[in-house]
Formats: sequence, C-alpha cells, structure tokens
Amino acid sequence: MKILTAADIIRYDLNTLFTNAMRFLEEDLHRWEEFKKSPRHATHYPHGVFELMPCADEKYYAYKYVNAHPANPDMGKLSIVALGMLADIETGYPQLVADMTLLTAIRTAATSALAAKHLALKDSSVLGLIGTGAQSEFQAHALRHAFPITTIRFFDRDKKAMEKFARNLSGRGISLIACENGDEVVHGADIVTTCICEKARVELFGYKSVKDNEHLFVNAIGGDCPGKTELDPEVMRNSRIVVEFYEQTRHEGEIQNLEGKVACDELWEIVQGKKEGRTETDRIIVFDSVGFALADFSMLRMLHESGIGREMKVVPEPEDPKDLYSLFTGTREC
Ligand SMILES: NC(=O)c1ccc[n+]([C@@H]2O[C@H](COP(=O)([O-])OP(=O)(O)OC[C@H]3O[C@@H](n4cnc5c(N)ncnc54)[C@H](O)[C@@H]3O)[C@@H](O)[C@H]2O)c1
Repeated sequence: MKILTAADIIRYDLNTLFTNAMRFLEEDLHRWEEFKKSPRHATHYPHGVFELMPCADEKYYAYKYVNAHPANPDMGKLSIVALGMLADIETGYPQLVADMTLLTAIRTAATSALAAKHLALKDSSVLGLIGTGAQSEFQAHALRHAFPITTIRFFDRDKKAMEKFARNLSGRGISLIACENGDEVVHGADIVTTCICEKARVELFGYKSVKDNEHLFVNAIGGDCPGKTELDPEVMRNSRIVVEFYEQTRHEGEIQNLEGKVACDELWEIVQGKKEGRTETDRIIVFDSVGFALADFSMLRMLHESGIGREMKVVPEPEDPKDLYSLFTGTREC
C-alpha cells in the first residue's frame, strides 16, 4: 500500500497538477453513469462538520474524510483538512492513503475551472473573489489557467487574509483591486467565486448589484452544508443553476434556500454534451458547488496511476489467510 503525504504532493508543479486534475476529472465525468454514487454522510456539530464521501467504479472504491471547522483559523489551524483512501475492487485491499487537504483545494478549483469553461464567457477577464482564505489562491490560479484573467476584485472581512491574498498573487501581471464588500467585488466582474467559511445564511451581495450583468458566471463553493449559504436567494431565483449531484446539493447547496423541486442541470450532463453550456439566451449562471465524491475519486485515481508515494506495510499478511491469530502466537512478523 502506498502512503502520500502533503510533502510528497507539493513536490509537483501546480500547473501540472491542475492540468492533470482537469483531465482526470473530465474523463470521469464522461463516464458518470458507470459510478456507484451517493450523497455524502455528514455528522454535524454546532462548530463544524465531519463528512465521508464514497464513490466507486468497477476498478476502484474510494472515499474521502473531510471536515469544515470555520473557527479553526483563530486557533492557528486550517478550517478544512482531508484524508483519502483508494482500494482495489477485486480484493478490497487498500492501495493508497493520501493527504487530501491540498488535493481538495486543487480538485475544487479544477472543478470550478471546468464548470466555468462551459458556463462563463470565453473571454472573461475580470474575476471577483469573496473570501480570501485557504481555497482562494487555488481558485484564482485555476481560473487564470483557463481564462485571460487580467483583473481580480477581492474582499474578505479579515484584512490580514486580504493582504495575504494580494501578497501571494502580486508580481504576476494581474491588477488586484481590494474592495470594501461583496457588492463592490461583483461590479463589472465576468466570473465571481464565493468561498467564505461561515456557518450561517449569508448574502455576500444583493441581486440588485448583479441583475444588469447579463453574462455573469457565479461559482459558489462555500455554501456547502445545511444552514451554510452565501448567496441572496433572489440571485438563485433569477439564474440558471448547475449542480454536481442534485440529491446531495438539495440539502447542502445554495438551493436549500429555494422551495420545492429546483430546476437544475448537473455538470456531467454539460460535460457530456447532453445539456448545453452557456447559450445566447442565458443570463446569470450559478454553479452551486458543494464538492462531490467523484472529484475526489478522480484525484485519488490520478495519484495512484502516477505511481508516486511510499510503499508501506499497513495491513497484516499472515502466511495462512485463515490464521490471523498466528500473528500473535507465532514469530510476530506481519
Ligand atoms: N464546494 C467545494 O467543493 C468546496 C471545497 C473546499 C472548500 N469549500 C468551502 O469553501 C469555503 C472556504 O474554504 P477555505 O478553506 O478557504 O476556508 P478559510 O477558513 O481558510 O477561509 C474562509 C475565509 O472567509 C472569510 N469570511 C468568513 N465569513 C465571511 C463573510 N461573511 N464575509 C467575508 N469574508 C468572510 C474568512 O475571514 C476567511 O478568510 C468553506 O466554506 C468550505 O467549506 C467548498
């Protein structure tokens, strides 16, 4: 079995990781029907959530463990950390255990860029970003990878997080415009990514601030848990909505603020060409992203098939598979 730590992952160039992440993700979305899928299992606490995200095909079974604890940064810890495991379908034996904290940021940003490729204007040049925490630079990086972004308008209620974001993206030929609030961010933006972390129903900008922006693409990634949303429901009521997996998003996404069955397309339908991407008649389009297990499956498959990671004996290998007990009575060799 291979073990992959964060230290192993950062040895790879970020552009290569994004290119590969988008390729594996696109390949797997093209064969969506082949997967065994289910909404994730979530265990809620007032201060955070624990989630298990399984997904499998005929070759691999994979799952990710991930949390979201919005108050963690005040204690010097990440809001979100994750671990993933990939097993062989034939025998059930684990093949790979990997840190997925970095890969969650990479796969989320790759999913955003893939959705934007189909749903945003091709020549989008102004990106708005609300929430400049751990995910933010990955979002900016991936969207710059796919679009000719020249300007980023950004806001976070934490001034230090804004300074960190500006520092990380300076010297790259992008015009960085620090804003006072979300309504200012969305002004003139082609693409807006919302990625705050707050367990509340927040409205980061009002519908009136975007209603005349005919071609806006909103990539909403932070509203991903019951009672945790970022958009004015009026924006949702007046937009075409695209989700990853309706069954899960219905309870976790921005659409939890809308009544009844909500008309949505799923991203895989657009990637496969079963539904159209942005059309002449589309106005605002919202990608109501909550994070779906298939994207994590794609990342684990990408790592496994690249062959990287250190071999480590974790599960026992008794000489006689029916004599597990012998490991305690014999030579104690696993
Ligand atoms: N959809 C997905 O696939 C996916 C994947 C990963 C993370 N997420 C979500 O993305 C969000 C961001 O994650 P992160 O790792 O960057 O978190 P983070 O804690 O590092 O950063 C969040 C930032 O939001 C800011 N913020 C909180 N409330 C705000 C408000 N009302 N107005 C302005 N700024 C505010 C905080 O100051 C912080 O800088 C989280 O909600 C997380 O659950 C979604």
